[in-house]
Amino acid sequence: MGMNEILKGKVKTLFETDNPEEVLIRYEDCVTAGNGQMIEYPKGKGTICCLMTAMLFEYLESNSIRTHFIDCPSLDTMRCKKLKIAPVEVICRNIAAGSIVKTTNITEGFLIQPPIVEFFLKDDSKNDPLLTPDRVRLMGIHTEPLIEKARNVNDLLQPLFLLCGIDLVDFKLEFGYDAHGDLFLADELSPDNMRLWSKDRTERFDKDLFRKGEGDIVEAYKVILTKLRQFV
Ligand code: C5P
Repeated sequence: MGMNEILKGKVKTLFETDNPEEVLIRYEDCVTAGNGQMIEYPKGKGTICCLMTAMLFEYLESNSIRTHFIDCPSLDTMRCKKLKIAPVEVICRNIAAGSIVKTTNITEGFLIQPPIVEFFLKDDSKNDPLLTPDRVRLMGIHTEPLIEKARNVNDLLQPLFLLCGIDLVDFKLEFGYDAHGDLFLADELSPDNMRLWSKDRTERFDKDLFRKGEGDIVEAYKVILTKLRQFV
């Protein structure tokens, strides 16, 4: 199996394979925040995020959401369909937290009903600014299929996490297109890119623990993986 590096991201490394239509994505034992200004290397984190993403992508696939996931040749590595990734981050919010609280007068914990879908530019050099749907269209991206898919993912994940006693506060998705222009969910689905609060709001199980220096993310992510395994 060839392992030529294509791209080194902040917490994942992309390799080419012998099949030009596939890539390998290795999840590193690394966590960053503040556009790379905070960085740590928690042992075991790569494997947990890889396993959780694989589990959730398989769950979504079994519910008719097409994802780039094929299989896991090892615990920290995924074989995925090679896609052209859209340069936007698609964020779905059920409860107000994070940037929406910082940039509006909406208070943390406000129930967002119905959930909203927002677009941010995927460009660290520009600090990933919030985009308007018009700007996304000007970038040549059809917003409607992305919004619909994000809502579908939310409709599947929210009840799954509720079974685990967890509120899915918000999450980030990335999408890509194959050679035929077909749309696939890509990237990662783990507590690195979603906020997860206990229903009674006393505990958090996501990357905010690292962002705010409030706890051990590996232990928290393991709790989520164990809970999900009961239901997926
Ligand atoms: O920062 P903000 O509050 O907009 O983040 C919303 C959700 O998207 C959070 O779950 C956060 O972890 C995730 N996110 C991400 N990658 C980014 C920005 C946000 O995974 N670059």
